[in-house]
Amino acid sequence: MKIAVAGTGYVGLVTGVCLAEHKHEVTCVDVDEKKIEKMQQGISPIYEKGLPELMKKNMDRLTFTTDYKKAYADAEVIFIGVGTPEKVDGSANLKYVYTVAKQIAESVERDCVVVVKSTVPIGTNDKIENYIREHLTHPVEIDCVSNPEFLSQGTAVRDTLHAARIIIGAEKEKAGNVLMKVYEDFEAPKILTNRRSAEMIKYASNDFLALKISYVNEIANFCETVGADIEDVAKGMGMDERIGNKFLKAGIGYGGSCFPKDTKALHWLGNYYDKEFKTIKAAIEVNDNQKLKLIKKARQYYSSLEGLTVAVLGLTFKPGTNDLREAPSILNVGILLDDGAVVKAFDPVAEAEFDRLYPGKIKYCELPEQALEDADLCMIFTEWEEIKNLTPQTFCNKMKKPVILDGRNCFQIREFEDLPLIYDSIGRRTVRNI
Ligand code: UDX
Repeated sequence: MKIAVAGTGYVGLVTGVCLAEHKHEVTCVDVDEKKIEKMQQGISPIYEKGLPELMKKNMDRLTFTTDYKKAYADAEVIFIGVGTPEKVDGSANLKYVYTVAKQIAESVERDCVVVVKSTVPIGTNDKIENYIREHLTHPVEIDCVSNPEFLSQGTAVRDTLHAARIIIGAEKEKAGNVLMKVYEDFEAPKILTNRRSAEMIKYASNDFLALKISYVNEIANFCETVGADIEDVAKGMGMDERIGNKFLKAGIGYGGSCFPKDTKALHWLGNYYDKEFKTIKAAIEVNDNQKLKLIKKARQYYSSLEGLTVAVLGLTFKPGTNDLREAPSILNVGILLDDGAVVKAFDPVAEAEFDRLYPGKIKYCELPEQALEDADLCMIFTEWEEIKNLTPQTFCNKMKKPVILDGRNCFQIREFEDLPLIYDSIGRRTVRNI
């Protein structure tokens, strides 16, 4: 089928490339000319496993352009995959979605289905459909279909090609069937529902996962108080199929481009309808506190952070991506710098991005061992393999005073047991040998 995709971020680009892999003719549209030029050469503008290879493989079915008019004019299906960032009040900012909707209205010259992949508040598809219909410049029929995206960064290609489910929210059978045809060759179970339910499924899923993480983090904090071990507790909980063993990993809180914004957006929407989501509010509050957990721990070991050399290991919100959005490291490094600490950081992919946030203020190291050199404190924010592969002895050998605060429980406690150091992680007993 002839498909256009608006937006070449994680959602748009991965969707476009995976649809090309399934033999569709795909035109990816973006306003950023530099990005388009890169993609025309087969270079992926985002760090995502398997994406460059898949792009190259399907280049004969992929077109990248800033010329939206041409791309939309004769497309049978147009996917909207632009961002819906958070506004200051927590609500979703739909300006990019509406910009694309306007461009679609001005450009389409044949009947087509507009598919909203971006995460949008419940009821938005109805509004977008009306908006496009009102602004059409050609006598054509358009229908909006909600088709939320569930990909995770780092595994986006796999999550799309082997999706757990494909949700299709349509008001008209005909429009729903067009999407069924788009996804004909995808093996995932397809759920056909109405548009508002599809929109709701997306928020309900993301916010449930965020809630699950905040719940386990709160349990982890309590484990520290009562002397239980969160790893064992999570394992014991996860064996119950009703609970499931995924997303029970305690840490310094969720970050990324989705959970923080989608929890706030649904909470905002609830309040808008005078139906506050109390569970989501709690998940947000717990996460905000959790992000500060390592700094609070640091202050237990040092009355002042001024003049300390701090090794910061991992900067991204999770491994496998160079995305720093809402990464707990950002807040913590800001506090460290404000308190006068000297920060040496290691991250395998996010150095350049992070330097834009704190230009010239951090010494970046190519290896985690270099960051540890002469450090008074080590804080771990991301469970990259390079960090997990460090031996406990390395911390002792390299650091001036080995105080290790592990925000991702990268190591087994027993590995540190007999060493002259402090190893303090999340929801587990602290090894304190100095
Ligand atoms: C998430 C959803 O998983 C995905 O379905 C949705 O489409 C977009 O949002 P993503 O943000 O890429 O994907 O990452 P994810 O792997 O879900 O992790 C989000 C955050 O939660 C990370 O900071 C991660 O470290 C944290 N997390 C995840 C935990 O702290 N514990 C866990 O058990 C799982």
